[in-house]
Amino acid sequence: MRAIVCRELTGPAALRIEELAEPLSGPGQVRIRVRACGVNFADSLITRGQYQKQPATPFVPGFEVAGEVLEVGAGVTGFAPGDRVLALTPHGGYAEQVAADITRCVPIPPTMSWEHAAGFPVVFGTSHVALWHRARLQAGETLVVHGASGGVGLTAVAIGKRLGATVIATASGPAKLAVAREHGADHLIDSSREDVRERIRDLTAGRGADVVYDPVGGALFTASLRSIAFEGRILVIGFAGGDVPQIPANHLLVKNVDVIGVNWPAYAELLPRVMIESFATLVQWYLDGAIQVHVSATYPLARAVEALDQVVSRKSTGKVVITTE
Ligand SMILES: NC(=O)c1ccc[n+]([C@@H]2O[C@H](COP(=O)([O-])OP(=O)(O)OC[C@H]3O[C@@H](n4cnc5c(N)ncnc54)[C@H](OP(=O)(O)O)[C@@H]3O)[C@@H](O)[C@H]2O)c1
Repeated sequence: MRAIVCRELTGPAALRIEELAEPLSGPGQVRIRVRACGVNFADSLITRGQYQKQPATPFVPGFEVAGEVLEVGAGVTGFAPGDRVLALTPHGGYAEQVAADITRCVPIPPTMSWEHAAGFPVVFGTSHVALWHRARLQAGETLVVHGASGGVGLTAVAIGKRLGATVIATASGPAKLAVAREHGADHLIDSSREDVRERIRDLTAGRGADVVYDPVGGALFTASLRSIAFEGRILVIGFAGGDVPQIPANHLLVKNVDVIGVNWPAYAELLPRVMIESFATLVQWYLDGAIQVHVSATYPLARAVEALDQVVSRKSTGKVVITTE
């Protein structure tokens, strides 16, 4: 099978397409014929040795796939060859085949395309667990979403609306803000030219935001801390901007603020019932048409490096997906 292989931890440019042996489905696993694989910002981190669960080289990147079951391993029940599934993989998705634990596989609704299924789990799963389980966002609250046209950001906008919040989206430039608007954002802030802190305070009549969803970090985190409401919650999702914020504890004390970390993949191992309940909700919302997967670009497997470059160079909106056709 063909796969995109990382042999040195120097970043995405060193990834190469290679012929590899087909994977074996071990006990409790299925072997999947990959049709599509979601591209994530963290795919770039893993090629630099900066991911929190770093595999040894050589490895194949790729955290989420959609495809058909080719074969089931020993002890597998509930899945059979031919089943359409999406799966979370610790790595290995940028390939024509991958073996996945059945505890990380979910049947795909018949109406869901391969591209939508592959672009669904990480971004919707992260934003739903963050907003529903971690921040306990309530209807009527004000939610600020940074990087609101990006992979996780756009899903946070849609889920925030579905949970009944007023959503303020920040993104760089009018084209990206228009995408956030299409997915339900009530108010838009251009983070490339407006004072984010001032605009949040204006839009909330000086009260501040109840919840902030932050996948960017750096100056946007600082602006969030200065424009958060009494008993507000700031969700630390990621650091796409590069700077990991340092938090002055006195600011948290003065306004009774919670800063809440979110490591979504950890739920698969440490608290799977949260992920399972979240997934069931999200699949139902998808079937009801309450949430949409926004795939802005697809690339063939051989052009995986370009696909990843779209994401890390800030050119993409929503999801970029790699297909194996
Ligand atoms: N905690 C978790 O469990 C979890 C799960 C998934 C992802 N994440 C993290 O969330 C972050 C976003 O992931 P994603 O897949 O949504 O990425 P993405 O699609 O590339 O979105 C990131 C957004 O960040 C903004 N940004 C600001 N400065 C940037 C820079 N220097 N480079 C790139 N983007 C920049 C961009 O929006 P503007 O141009 O509008 O500023 C971009 O749309 C990453 O740090 C990722 O590791 C965390």
